[in-house]
Amino acid sequence: EKGTYPHYMLKEIDEQPLVMRKIIQAYQDIDGRLSIYSQIIDAVTQADRLYIIACGTSYHAGLVGKQLIEKLAKIPVEVHVSSEFVYNMPLLSEKPLFIFISQSGETADSRAVLVKVKEMGYKALTITNVPGSTLSREADYTLLLHAGPEIAVASTKAYTAQIAVLAILADVAAKSRGYSEDFNLVHELGLVANAMEVLCGSKEEVEQMAYDYLTVTRNCFFIGRSLDYFVCLEGALKLKEISYIQAEGFAGGELKHGTIALIEEGTPVVALATQKDVNWSIRGNVKEVIARGANPCIISMKGLNEEGDRFIIPKVHELLTPLISVIPLQLLAYYAALHRGCDVDKPRNLAKSVTVE
Ligand code: F6R
Repeated sequence: EKGTYPHYMLKEIDEQPLVMRKIIQAYQDIDGRLSIYSQIIDAVTQADRLYIIACGTSYHAGLVGKQLIEKLAKIPVEVHVSSEFVYNMPLLSEKPLFIFISQSGETADSRAVLVKVKEMGYKALTITNVPGSTLSREADYTLLLHAGPEIAVASTKAYTAQIAVLAILADVAAKSRGYSEDFNLVHELGLVANAMEVLCGSKEEVEQMAYDYLTVTRNCFFIGRSLDYFVCLEGALKLKEISYIQAEGFAGGELKHGTIALIEEGTPVVALATQKDVNWSIRGNVKEVIARGANPCIISMKGLNEEGDRFIIPKVHELLTPLISVIPLQLLAYYAALHRGCDVDKPRNLAKSVTVE
C-alpha cells in the first residue's frame, strides 16, 4: 500500500534508509560481523573471474559492484548486458562464476543466459529481491535484497539494495581472502543510511531543481567520472523512463569526443562530483560545457564542493557514494515527470518485469 504517498516511486525512494538498515541486519552474524553463507563465499573466492549479468538498472548496479569487488576482494569482474551476452559471449576464463542481478528474478533476457551457462556446467549466484523467483530457483545460490516489494516501474530502492549487497559480498570475500583493510562496512553503511535520510528530507530543494532545469527542456545530459559515471547512466535512465526527456549519461572525458556537439544554449547538464581523484577533471568538463552555453547543475559531495554547486550531498566513504548520489537523481526524475504531467508509477511502453526476450 502506498499509504499517504501520491506515488509508489516516492514511497520507495523514501524507504531506502530503512532498507539499508534491514540489509545490514540481515547480513550480520550474532557477533555483529558481516557474514554470507560459506558455500557462496567459497564459490566467489575460488572463481578466477566473476561475470555479472543483468539488464537496465540492475546492470548499472553491477557496474558499481565490479568496482567494489575488484577494489576490496581483488577478484577480476566483467559486467555484461544479458541480451548481448547470450548471443555474443566473450571468451570465458577457466573458472568463471556467474552472478545474476535481478530485482524481479523473472527477467527473460537474464534467464536465457542462466539457462545457457548452466548447460555449459558453470555455477551461478542470483542476487534478487524475490525469494523463489525463477532466477533464484534455477541458480545454485541466492542472495536476497530485503528491499520489500518494489511496485513502481522505475527501480529505486532495489538499485541501492543491490549495491549494498554487492558491497557486503565484496567485503566478506575480501576478508576471506585475507585482505582486511581499515574499512568497517557495517559502520560505513550505517553512515550511508543516515545520509540517505538527510537526502530524503531535501525533496523541496530537488523539486525546485527539477523545476529550474527540466520543465521545458527536450534533453538533459549527466556527466561524471569513475563511480560517478555509473550513477550518471542510472540517473539518465530514470529520467528518460518516467519523464520522457531524452537523457544520456556520459563519462566526463568522452564529451569532447562527440557528444559536446549536442550542447546548445541552455542545455541542462547535471554533473556529479563525489570522487576526490577526479574532482579537478570533472570540473574541467563542466567548464567545457558552460563555454558552449550549457546550464550546469553540479551535485557534489561535502568536502569536494565549490562555490556555485547546486546541491551538496553528505560525505560517505568514497566507494559507497553511488548509494547516496543516486537519490537526488531519482528525485529529480520523479519531480520532472510530475511537473510534466507524466504517469510516474506506470510509464508508457514499460512493464515491471520483462518476461519476454
Ligand atoms: C529501470 C528498470 C529496468 C529494470 C530491468 C531489469 O528502472 O526498472 O531497467 O532494472 O528491466 O529488471 P530486473 O532487475 O527485475 O531483472
